[in-house]
Amino acid sequence: MSGDHGPDEAPWELGDLGDWPPEVFREAGHRTVDWVADYVARIETLPVLAQVQPGEILRSLPANPPEHGESFGNLLADLDGVVLPGVTHWNHPGFLAYFGITASGPGILGEMVAAAFNTNAMLWRTSPSTTELEQGVLDWLRGMIGLPAPRFGLLTDTASTSTLVALAAARESVPGLDVRERGLSAPGMPRLRLYTSMEAHSSVEKAAIVLGLGREGVRKIPTDSAFRMDVAALDAAVREDRASGWLPFAVSATVGTTSTTSVDPVPAVAAICAREGLWLHVDAAYAGSAAVLPEKRWCLAGCEHADSLVTNPHKWLFVPIDASALFLRRPEVLRRALQLVPDYLQTSAAPDAVNLMDYGFQLGRRFRAIKLWWVIRTFGVEGIRRRIAEHCRLAEVFASWVEADPGFEVVAPVPFSTICFRAVWPGITAAERDARNERVLERVNADGRVFLSHTKLCGVYTLRVAIGNLRTEERHLRVAWDLLRSAREGEG
Ligand SMILES: Cc1ncc(COP(=O)(O)O)c(C=O)c1O
Repeated sequence: MSGDHGPDEAPWELGDLGDWPPEVFREAGHRTVDWVADYVARIETLPVLAQVQPGEILRSLPANPPEHGESFGNLLADLDGVVLPGVTHWNHPGFLAYFGITASGPGILGEMVAAAFNTNAMLWRTSPSTTELEQGVLDWLRGMIGLPAPRFGLLTDTASTSTLVALAAARESVPGLDVRERGLSAPGMPRLRLYTSMEAHSSVEKAAIVLGLGREGVRKIPTDSAFRMDVAALDAAVREDRASGWLPFAVSATVGTTSTTSVDPVPAVAAICAREGLWLHVDAAYAGSAAVLPEKRWCLAGCEHADSLVTNPHKWLFVPIDASALFLRRPEVLRRALQLVPDYLQTSAAPDAVNLMDYGFQLGRRFRAIKLWWVIRTFGVEGIRRRIAEHCRLAEVFASWVEADPGFEVVAPVPFSTICFRAVWPGITAAERDARNERVLERVNADGRVFLSHTKLCGVYTLRVAIGNLRTEERHLRVAWDLLRSAREGEG
């Protein structure tokens, strides 16, 4: 960029109105893309876990905004100087905590294009492409994971939102209740109950809080030895609740629980839902993506009966946060629950035009479909399959190392790409073992090359390795494993 209109030179903006001229945007954009490409190229040299203390980043920011525009070079420099030290690098190949995720190249660029369009697809006519691309790409995804057609697909920000709106639909589906109009505190309103397993994600319980069911409105069903919902216990709980005056209305089954990635027996759960007239919601936020693999398709068995199913492309489909796909069998129930059209949003569009604002509590809606579209088209379904299969293979390799070492034990089945395990020592108490495992995790994470997280299974401290980043290779797992072994030795 030459002349006096570069993003680092003040004249373009002094006294001007409006946005950057196109040539300024172009130069700043190229420099930003270069910064991102360099960041991704050197990410492995950075410590995965941010090394800052609480408040440190905040204190490094000026108390007041600049009165006059700064040079773009300053902004980029502060990404390095101010922001990077406080970033935990979720895109790092050594990120093995929670659920490993990836913002892939096409996904990152898709985000940029979505920002450029800046559409708000509240109504069909406020961006037909945003609305229809979302429908089209989600139908691809539906087919990729083997859900039957037709299903109405919706992209929300997170699985928490998807589950919340799905359960709002579930509540609306109860005949004669009419909570939408009367509210849950109306006289004579029955107490509603929702069932999920002890291993379900907290988002189910949070949805119940938001929907006014209260935490007591969620009955947590015990799990079997492999952390799957105990269907006999579900059956008994529903009967018992009916007998004591509760109104059971929904079950949220999980395909890929957060701690161990266990899969609830959805076919049996679906049979109970059918018999009892309960809405079946399936939370497949993490593991739904695995169903692109023919050998993992079993995990969605029974989900053809689900009234709603959520899976997150931002978890294991290489799409940057945020993107959660919600599939509905009867979208009209959700629309009945949440459609509210003020005068200024009435439109004369064709009656079959989909207005996405009718299917959520937010009015506005970003163009999330582009990044998913670009990821699917760039890698292809076959390429996505290969990448997910590789993560599952890496998990098997890691589990085999753990199993072969008498100083460690694998503590849950490994159906996908997450391994739950712990270090063991002969002759120590359970409390001491927990404390030592906690210290092992701290030591491993302090190294900076990998980041692992933990959970508790049946109250026992458990380490987790979750593989989901496209840059993770066997050598990164080897680093984690060597660190784990030496940290265990350091504990005696
Ligand atoms: C099984 C399951 N469901 C739901 C969620 C919540 O996801 P989100 O952050 O998209 O709300 C998670 C998060 O890890 C999860 O593991």
